[in-house]
Amino acid sequence: MDIQVIILAAGKGSRMKSRLPKVLHKLAGKPLVQHVIDNCKSMGAKHCHLVVGHGAELVKEGVIGENIELSFVEQKEQLGTGHAVKMTLEGLQADTPTLILYGDVPLTHHDTLSQLVDIYLADPKGIALMTCFLDEPTGYGRITRGADNLVTGIVEHKDATEEQREINEINTGILCCNSSQLIEWVGRLNNDNAQGEYYLTDIIAMCVEQGNQVTTAQPAYLYEVEGINTLRQLAELERVWQLEMAQQLMDGGVTLTDPARFDLRGTLSCGSDVVIDINCVIEGRVIIKEGVTIGPNVCLKDCTIGANSVIKANSVIEEATIENECSVGPFARLRPGTLLKSDSHIGNFVEIKKSTLGHGSKAGHLAYIGDAEVGEKVNIGAGTITCNYDGANKHKTIIEDGAFIGSDSQLVAPVRVGKNVTVGAGSTITKDVQDDVLVISRVKQKEINDWKRPVKNK
Ligand code: UD1
Ligand code: CA
Repeated sequence: MDIQVIILAAGKGSRMKSRLPKVLHKLAGKPLVQHVIDNCKSMGAKHCHLVVGHGAELVKEGVIGENIELSFVEQKEQLGTGHAVKMTLEGLQADTPTLILYGDVPLTHHDTLSQLVDIYLADPKGIALMTCFLDEPTGYGRITRGADNLVTGIVEHKDATEEQREINEINTGILCCNSSQLIEWVGRLNNDNAQGEYYLTDIIAMCVEQGNQVTTAQPAYLYEVEGINTLRQLAELERVWQLEMAQQLMDGGVTLTDPARFDLRGTLSCGSDVVIDINCVIEGRVIIKEGVTIGPNVCLKDCTIGANSVIKANSVIEEATIENECSVGPFARLRPGTLLKSDSHIGNFVEIKKSTLGHGSKAGHLAYIGDAEVGEKVNIGAGTITCNYDGANKHKTIIEDGAFIGSDSQLVAPVRVGKNVTVGAGSTITKDVQDDVLVISRVKQKEINDWKRPVKNK
């Protein structure tokens, strides 16, 4: 869609009571203004002019314009929405329609925006304005209409008469118009009003005075035009959004034990018959294949879970790949670079980092496996540690197919344990071990006769 967007994001957001610029506060794990940018990208907008002011540097660093051209315009003093738009005029392309959005209104669907642009395109001399109807319109700009019910203007709450304050159709701030007209209108704005601000909303009356029409449209859902001013509103909108995400997943065949206790902060793609228990947090890009069960309180980040695998309660998995038919947890931690091949099993209090566990291998309890290559059908006993770090460098541990690592063993890397080796419990392995042997490195057991336990002094 050949359209340019202006996003107003210079305001302070003092009611957030935070040092972080308002538009960088996160909803579903993503800065508010990034939602707006991404929505523009989804609707196919090519260029985005972001008006920054408070915390300008932080905002510039805090957003990314992937597949959309992003330019920043600084508004040093916040003299009103009209003044904010004025800052962008130099960079506007006069022959491309302009869509105006707010950086603190994160959840407008891209198809709602596309529809508004379409309404504009049907009458490209007018303005397409997004409005909505509120039972409690206090504070918002009201839409005034003439006898023929056509829009005549917007009057800000503080400038409105008692009668106008009864109007419950309000301005959402979202509009689409012709750019060369916008340049002309904004050039004529003054600040002769109750707040001494340059109101962008005054362009509505200018458009009408020139004999053009203002067409209004409403979003499918109210939350699409809700702005964030307080942390309370942020938390409320977060839940609205999470419920929306949860419902989409359920519609796609995912069983969520409780959609109100589900948090997605990224993208999740699920196969059929996936079950997700309560309080899971899903971040980044997560892929869950068919038949997977995720237990309660599981955190998944940037990972793939293969078909029919089971992730049990309280496991934390990040940048890991789990193949089919695996079982993980409860209380397992899979860190970046973990690859569990099919049919492997990780039990409680096992931490794995940058390691591959071969098909059918197991680490059932209390182990640390780091920088290791573990073959097929290996059994790693409770308390096994790969000593991968010498205080300066990391080293690799290789455990070949069929090995059995007895409980409470330390494998001091770099080290290789051969095929079908049995490591006796409690061993410290410091040298490579050849295939098919029993290796054991513990002090021989001895018995001391007539030994008395100490007794307490009276
Ligand atoms: C504005 C509208 C009002 C509408 C309401 C919807 C005007 C004059 N009023 O009111 O009709 O009902 O939004 O929420 O436009 N901003 C800047 N620079 C400025 C001023 C604002 O970048 O100088 C940005 C803010 O950061 C914010 C957005 O513009 O993202 C809206 O500003 P805000 O102060 O919330 O507008 P309102 O006065 O509430
Ligand atoms: Ca506002």
